[in-house]
Amino acid sequence: MSVLEIRNLHATVGDTEILKGVNLTLRSGEIHAMMGPNGSGKSTLSYIIAGHPHYAITEGDILLDGESILDMEADERARAGLFLAFQYPVAVPGVSVANFLRTAVSNVRGYTEAEKNGNSNGSSGVIGSNLMPMREFRRELTAKMKEFNVDASFARRYLNDGFSGGEKKRTEVLQMAMLEPKFAILDESDSGLDIDALQVVSDGINKLATEDRGFLLITHYQRILNYVKPDFVSIFFGGRIVKTGGPEVAQMLEERGYKWVEEELVNGLVPA
Ligand SMILES: Nc1ncnc2c1ncn2[C@@H]1O[C@H](COP(=O)(O)OP(=O)(O)O)[C@@H](O)[C@H]1O
Ligand SMILES: [Mg+2]
Repeated sequence: MSVLEIRNLHATVGDTEILKGVNLTLRSGEIHAMMGPNGSGKSTLSYIIAGHPHYAITEGDILLDGESILDMEADERARAGLFLAFQYPVAVPGVSVANFLRTAVSNVRGYTEAEKNGNSNGSSGVIGSNLMPMREFRRELTAKMKEFNVDASFARRYLNDGFSGGEKKRTEVLQMAMLEPKFAILDESDSGLDIDALQVVSDGINKLATEDRGFLLITHYQRILNYVKPDFVSIFFGGRIVKTGGPEVAQMLEERGYKWVEEELVNGLVPA
């Protein structure tokens, strides 16, 4: 079993403190939903877990199975088993979904390790070396595309280039299925999706939610939680988690909105 622990995390952009003491423990086999109003810092938290260099961490730690990951680069974190699906995935014209996935999978599974360490028998620096063998990769990709209802034509398309919101999210599910992370952080994977796309994304998450994988589902709305059943629901507000409970917390937010959280905070009913 794996544990990802965020301990009293404070982070700033420029002079502005955005994360103000986040405490959160994710365990494999569990789905943790995090809900909060826009601008509360949810995406910032996900970028920081993934290792985005833009933010300064001023206090606290992030531990994966007891070891701090703060000194690890983003690609090392991916190799350690962390996966982040961005709220706004970037388009990469010229790079096909298949090529992107082959490179990512090769990196995460250690095929490129020898090259990085500079002892790859002279092939260092040669583009295309130390990749997962093409045939093996193709076989796995085809199988996973079938399993996760992603159309075969996706493999040849340029990554996210002209993709609809739903297509981007399907690609993310496929990416997750190929990378097999220990922890997947999905930032607003439900926003802007029509019901069919939401179904594909939810089915994908449910299939991938195995004993040895943990999920953090960041969402503004309760909607996706009709399809994916979380074990825990946290409310993120003003740069920290102010309440954690079961699915009833999401229900309460849906009925009463975020105003109620603010009022409880002011009245000292939840810890500030
Ligand atoms: N790169 C940045 N530069 C300046 N401010 C930022 C940056 N990234 C985020 N912020 C600010 O941090 C706050 C939290 O943003 P964000 O993490 O995107 O919230 P959420 O995902 O909950 O909507 C916002 O007030 C936003 O303007
Ligand atoms: Mg966000």
